[in-house]
Amino acid sequence: MNNSAVSSSGSLTLSCIGGGRLGSTLCRLFAEQQTLDIAIGQLLNRHLESASHAVRFIGQGEAVATMNQLKPADLWLIATPDDKIETVSRALAETMLLRPGDMVFHCSGSLNSEVLSLPQDQSQSAAEKACLRASVHPIHSFADPAKSVSSFAGSSCAVEGEAAASDYVTRLFSAIGGNCFALRSDKKTLYHAATVMACNNLVALLASSKQMLAAADIAADQQDAILNPLIRQTVDNYLHHSDARAVLTGPISRGDSDTVAAHLRAIADSDQTQAASWQSVYAALGEVAVEIARQQAYASEDKLDNITQLLANSANTSD
Ligand SMILES: NC(=O)c1ccc[n+]([C@@H]2O[C@H](COP(=O)([O-])OP(=O)(O)OC[C@H]3O[C@@H](n4cnc5c(N)ncnc54)[C@H](OP(=O)(O)O)[C@@H]3O)[C@@H](O)[C@H]2O)c1
Repeated sequence: MNNSAVSSSGSLTLSCIGGGRLGSTLCRLFAEQQTLDIAIGQLLNRHLESASHAVRFIGQGEAVATMNQLKPADLWLIATPDDKIETVSRALAETMLLRPGDMVFHCSGSLNSEVLSLPQDQSQSAAEKACLRASVHPIHSFADPAKSVSSFAGSSCAVEGEAAASDYVTRLFSAIGGNCFALRSDKKTLYHAATVMACNNLVALLASSKQMLAAADIAADQQDAILNPLIRQTVDNYLHHSDARAVLTGPISRGDSDTVAAHLRAIADSDQTQAASWQSVYAALGEVAVEIARQQAYASEDKLDNITQLLANSANTSD
């Protein structure tokens, strides 16, 4: 990587395709940091007006309306929505603006850097001639760029890609206060699925719990009064201990198969359209809880085997 711009200590230009919430926040942070010598080059969005808005927010750079107005840059951030990254990157590669040693990166949580296109005459085997590719997933919500500029520092950032590119983006995101950690390219989607489980699927689980209270004829304000303290206490306990064995309570932890059987019957008898999905979520998460209960060893193996059987039977019935 001797010819790589990112291995030099000189001044680098960063251009951004997709200066939306994340793109404009990061460009402003890159422009304001003092550790690396970076200038913001050009901003290309779908609409010139929104690129101009991003440039005003960043305080540097030039808004352009089309790909063919772009000039060479050392670093390219593609911060379009995920489903546009591949096509935008291919279009960028086709402009032939990318030079050996330039770096292209995106910030998607679910895609890895291999989705980024290289110019056609650069084979990956000729690594010293190729552009560098990386991805950085900042674990931060960029809903409000002005707020994110002041709150980004301390955010964890998952970095993957080619070695020289990963090293550079780690320096770049560390310079704006990110806590970078390395991720294997082939594990990125699994990593993202894990974060979705803890965030989005947790919301879905809590919503299901509320729907079940409603099906039990509990009024809306009472549902919150029941669930909110329980959710807070459980999450606080989990965060405090960071070990499921220290936190799991309830029928499965006690090996109480009668209660589990009664729950499954009550869900099946609820006559609600969502009953099948409640049953499969209850059974799938119950199986995970049984494994935690085995490690707790409060309940006998026999009792836990009974519960496993009940959960498996209910999963078969709901198929
Ligand atoms: N937002 C977050 O909290 C967050 C967190 C972590 C990672 N990310 C990742 O960051 C990336 C961007 O997300 P975002 O939330 O910042 O998206 P966003 O606010 O919707 O911004 C997307 C930007 O891309 C531009 N764009 C769309 N299609 C384009 C195209 N074909 N050519 C050029 N520009 C195009 C849009 O232009 P117009 O404004 O003109 O429509 C807009 O400025 C995604 O990969 C996302 O997964 C986001």
